[in-house]
Amino acid sequence: MKYDSTYKFRWSIIGSGHIARKVARELSDSGLHQIVAVFSRNQITGEEFCKKFNCSFYDKIEAFLNVDCDCIYIASPTDSHYEYIKNCLEHGKNVLCEKPITVNSRQFENLIYLAKERDLYLSTVLAFKYGKKYQQFKNDYNAYKYGRIEKLYMSFGLDASLLKKRTRYFDPSTASGAIMEHGIYMLAFIEDILGYSTDIFIVDVHMDKGVDIEAVLTMTAGEAMCNLKCSNRKVLSGDAVIYCEKGLVTLPFFNRGCSIYFDDNIDTLQKEPFSFLYQFNQVRLEIMDGKKESMFNTTEHILNTMKMLDAVKQKMGIIYPQNIENL
Ligand SMILES: NC(=O)c1ccc[n+]([C@@H]2O[C@H](COP(=O)([O-])OP(=O)(O)OC[C@H]3O[C@@H](n4cnc5c(N)ncnc54)[C@H](OP(=O)(O)O)[C@@H]3O)[C@@H](O)[C@H]2O)c1
Repeated sequence: MKYDSTYKFRWSIIGSGHIARKVARELSDSGLHQIVAVFSRNQITGEEFCKKFNCSFYDKIEAFLNVDCDCIYIASPTDSHYEYIKNCLEHGKNVLCEKPITVNSRQFENLIYLAKERDLYLSTVLAFKYGKKYQQFKNDYNAYKYGRIEKLYMSFGLDASLLKKRTRYFDPSTASGAIMEHGIYMLAFIEDILGYSTDIFIVDVHMDKGVDIEAVLTMTAGEAMCNLKCSNRKVLSGDAVIYCEKGLVTLPFFNRGCSIYFDDNIDTLQKEPFSFLYQFNQVRLEIMDGKKESMFNTTEHILNTMKMLDAVKQKMGIIYPQNIENL
């Protein structure tokens, strides 16, 4: 390794919104990361961000892409991910992009090819997969502690109409909607634990102006029947309730991966507080080690999840504007 273990990993960030600020706060408090540059279209929020996190502000993408850094974190809305990832890779930069990584799997396949050609790291944020509790659940499940999963109930939702910057959630031109915002976590969980499946049936979907506001679906994966509900208009618990051969497993707020109950007994390990750092620390190590994908969320897993998202959107009849669906 050309880095020592205390190396302060240099991030550049695209976007200065809600999630960019949350992640930046954790990175700058960590002692292992630093933010060197931010690209924002908005001078006021961009400069405010830079003052807070002690980094340089750019409103010209070309100049931003030429800043020396170890990885670019993309935290702009989903419709913009494909072009930014492509641009970053073409400028020789490793990339960690917010979820969903692209609008559809075709776009992601193109970027996989480009990242391979340029020998660069490419991954997406899916922090729950990096938590110790989730890892423990997965290992225990694979070691047959709970037996076969028979049924799985998951839900996740928030009332986006209460958020300050809420328009993104109800605008098809940003590739938003309940399934893209929240359903992705459930599909990624199912893909990771039970395997890839597009055996999906849409029970109900409430659409408004081309965006799925709330959706209920069932699917089979492995031998399990899965029931999923996601919403952009209602707070839903985020619990995973899993009926297994040997008992009931509950993961409260599963996409935060904090605790595991097995037959109503809390596990012996302490509840783990959620942090984006579990993933960002891992990405730092992987890039420092010359890896090109993440061991906890491989390119194959990301692609499978994107294909499952495609299948759900196709069955719901969701078609985003051509300019963001096309390559
Ligand atoms: N991992 C998680 O837990 C998590 C949670 C929430 C969201 N997300 C994901 O993170 C992404 C951003 O979500 P958010 O909630 O942070 O949204 P947000 O609060 O609306 O912030 C988006 C940021 O991107 C900027 N932006 C918008 N369009 C842009 C473009 N075309 N080019 C460059 N910058 C642009 C916005 O600033 P201006 O419009 O002022 O330029 C703003 O700074 C989405 O993909 C979402 O799915 C992830």
